[in-house]
Amino acid sequence: MGVESMVVAGRDAWLKAYADGDSRQFGLGILDAIARGLDIGALRPPPHPGGGEAKQIEARRLAELGAQGVRVPRVLGEGASTLLLSNLGDTFAAQLRAADGDAARIDALTSAVIDAIADAHARGAYFGQPLPRNITLDESGRVGFIDFEEDPLEVMSLPQAQARDWLMFAFGMAKYYDGRTDALADMLSRVMRREPEVAAHAGRVGRLKGFAQRIGWLGRSARHVAHSILVVRAATLLPMLLVAAVLWDWLEDGEIELLRMMF
Ligand SMILES: Nc1ncnc2c1ncn2[C@@H]1O[C@H](COP(=O)(O)OP(=O)(O)O)[C@@H](O)[C@H]1O
Ligand SMILES: [Mg+2]
Repeated sequence: MGVESMVVAGRDAWLKAYADGDSRQFGLGILDAIARGLDIGALRPPPHPGGGEAKQIEARRLAELGAQGVRVPRVLGEGASTLLLSNLGDTFAAQLRAADGDAARIDALTSAVIDAIADAHARGAYFGQPLPRNITLDESGRVGFIDFEEDPLEVMSLPQAQARDWLMFAFGMAKYYDGRTDALADMLSRVMRREPEVAAHAGRVGRLKGFAQRIGWLGRSARHVAHSILVVRAATLLPMLLVAAVLWDWLEDGEIELLRMMF
């Protein structure tokens, strides 16, 4: 897939082309087996179609989110497997990088984004991949959301999809809170306290702990999984994120031993 910035009738826009189905199917299958095996619905990966089907999903999700009052791009044009989208400004990722380690600045940006996610959830919305590179923050501080080519509701309930959003978000934020995970966990737990059902689904990621201990002997990356879980266990939410993150990397490294341990 390719995303290209362009100027259309004097305004910035993005042309998004959806490539055919990708090569992650196998990794996604393993993750799905783990999520099902441990009964952590929020971690189940949604199907990841390519081409026209991905475009259809994104166009539908943009319309739904827009109707829910969430700031998302407008569809300016479309082809068989492309969408032309209005520009929402700089990404949150770019702003975090520009903050260059300034903790007060990072916390202010992060808190605004957390509020925007919680506000959208309160309207019944969900995102799917709210990572810093898929969130925008313009000059006036408005928070927007992009990148919707998969739909978690195909494989989970709304509270699970909202839990998944928080897991994804925390996962994406972890590197900006290296050594300050408590500060991030505090901000997250403040909003999640208001949604006990969602928090409970997110909390199920804690089940990965026993699993990680079982595979602790498998080698360096497996020990790393167990270690991340044990070290950050004190916080309520973040732990699973770290685990999920490590697990992802690990799957992408192709350590398929994991499969054998599952059954
Ligand atoms: N509407 C938009 N407004 C601002 N930036 C955008 C927009 N669409 C895409 N981008 C930029 O392009 C990148 C990739 O677009 P995205 O929709 O996330 O596709 P991908 O599926 O390749 O991640 C984003 O991270 C962002 O930097
Ligand atoms: Mg993206």
